[in-house]
Amino acid sequence: MPAENLIEKLLSLKGEVASVPSPADEKELESVRIKYLGKKGVLSILSQEMRSVPADQKPEAGKLLQEIRSTLEGLVGSAEIEIKRNKVRREIEGEFFDTTLPSIQPEFGSAHPISAVMDEITDIFSGMGFQVEEGPETESDLYNFEKLNFPPEHPARDMQDTFHLLDVEKILRTHTSPVQVRAMEKYGPPLAVIAPGKVYRCDADVTHSPMFHQIEGFVIDKNITMGDLKGTLKAFATRLYGADVKVRLRPSFFPFVEPGAEMDVSCVICGGAGCRVCKQSGWLEILGAGMIHPNVLKASGIDPDQWGGFAFGLGIERIAMLKYGVDDIRLFFENDMRFLRQFKGGV
Ligand code: DAH
Repeated sequence: MPAENLIEKLLSLKGEVASVPSPADEKELESVRIKYLGKKGVLSILSQEMRSVPADQKPEAGKLLQEIRSTLEGLVGSAEIEIKRNKVRREIEGEFFDTTLPSIQPEFGSAHPISAVMDEITDIFSGMGFQVEEGPETESDLYNFEKLNFPPEHPARDMQDTFHLLDVEKILRTHTSPVQVRAMEKYGPPLAVIAPGKVYRCDADVTHSPMFHQIEGFVIDKNITMGDLKGTLKAFATRLYGADVKVRLRPSFFPFVEPGAEMDVSCVICGGAGCRVCKQSGWLEILGAGMIHPNVLKASGIDPDQWGGFAFGLGIERIAMLKYGVDDIRLFFENDMRFLRQFKGGV
């Protein structure tokens, strides 16, 4: 085939293609595609003719062919987008969209019951003017025991209760009481501190977990008496359990207080009448307390002749178990969603 012929054909095709209207629907689009760009389409046929074009005319013919191809591809490509867009538009217009339908609610998490109880108790004491302090969970024997007036051979230091860390001269704190000493050394008197946190003991059964939570509280000031201790703890119990709760202090022993006591509240299950939970006594022990021992004040750099104080410590898990009627402490730490979901919606 003579070369002029191909160039002429391409020029007339170029003119034709320039005036092809944009396809309005998928059917039109498909026929344009097949006619010009298909395997047996016009472009394909003309490209085959390229072979017989003399070398000096090849560049012009090739350029024309390329121009026509990109014009067609542009036409087809933008028509494709436009057709799709129109289709979606028609679908939306035809659809009934009920704006009053409730949306799908995302599932919100909630505070773990232990965190919730810890926050509640911390809030009660913050409201009375206590400042919140935290101490390290890995402690030294000095802060966990020695400065708290534990005699060197005290059974609480026994390997059975205390987790000792290998290689370092540290232990996991067995109680939050060391925060007393740390806060006294850091701030000096007067002071009112509440210290929530994790503690560790080598112990495990239905009421003991190797990791559990305590809140320590203490006040240092002039002329502090046992009456201040009892009044503060009574106010706390009333906030936690309601105005009807009764409290009593029983003498007890802790090395870091003198005198020491345990506080009972009237049974939150039976109200004091006697039941299985309070072992028919009508009372439940909820915390240890006492007047801070002069040796502890001295070890924390405070003059016991000028200052005095009271302290108390309570276990969060025990309070949470009583509050929610949970009889196995391990449930708190298994993270079974069926258990945790029951605390949703506030505790
Ligand atoms: N630290 C004690 C314990 O873990 C609890 C305790 C008892 C704390 C009496 C005190 C207190 O501050 O005065 O068993």
